[in-house]
Amino acid sequence: MTIEKIFNKEPKAVQAMFNLIADKYDFLNKVMSFGTQKYIKYRSIKNLNIKPDAKVIDLCCGTGDLTRIIKQIEPDADVTGIDFSEKMLEIALSKNKNNQIEYLQGDVTNLPYPDNTFDFAVMGFGLRNIQNAEKAVEEIYRILKPSGCFMHLDFGKHNFLSKIFDITTPILSRIFTKNYSAYSYLIKSKQIFPEPDDLIRDFENKGFKLKGRKDFLFGVISSQIMIK
Ligand SMILES: C[S@@+](CC[C@H](N)C(=O)[O-])C[C@H]1O[C@@H](n2cnc3c(N)ncnc32)[C@H](O)[C@@H]1O
Repeated sequence: MTIEKIFNKEPKAVQAMFNLIADKYDFLNKVMSFGTQKYIKYRSIKNLNIKPDAKVIDLCCGTGDLTRIIKQIEPDADVTGIDFSEKMLEIALSKNKNNQIEYLQGDVTNLPYPDNTFDFAVMGFGLRNIQNAEKAVEEIYRILKPSGCFMHLDFGKHNFLSKIFDITTPILSRIFTKNYSAYSYLIKSKQIFPEPDDLIRDFENKGFKLKGRKDFLFGVISSQIMIK
């Protein structure tokens, strides 16, 4: 894994990077978000109003935070998580009580599902890491049923508060991990990621319509709800 390959978002390098940081990922997320991330994820899923028996997929599920929140809010939903990092998935599986969530290893730019399969697709902090993000959005559109719903959650506005994260994250990653380069990549990817207004336009260009948007922490984190 070279730094340049990670910065170019080469899938193999990104996969290797997440394998490397998997064991500290949940802990560092909690620290770096100053404890806010779980609440933000919970509110973002709650806003979706997921019904019992809905088929839901969490793309780039990582250690499975969003999948577990979906089950907590709607225990009768049929929930799948997909990610290409086996180490992140190992942690998701270790938290999978009663095997109630299905996890599979795969690439979200090439989803192993027929068209019109899911009622909901969610993605948290994933798109930013995908080299061919356009293809991923096309795949999400394809696997959603007509009127299906896509919730995208990630960093939002590049404002003053956002810059504080840019300063604190490298410091915290130096204190708590040996993977400083991985966390400097994460900050870089956040800084060049489109702001929500631009992202919504990109989603609309792929056929989605905006249903709603919720900003957290003065817009530093944002979720967009898009309808097929
Ligand atoms: C920052 S983590 C987010 C994890 C989780 N969604 C969360 O909110 O904590 C990004 C995840 O995206 C995954 N990922 C990146 N590119 C991917 C791709 N093309 N296909 C599948 N997973 C991918 C990584 O393995 C990693 O687990």
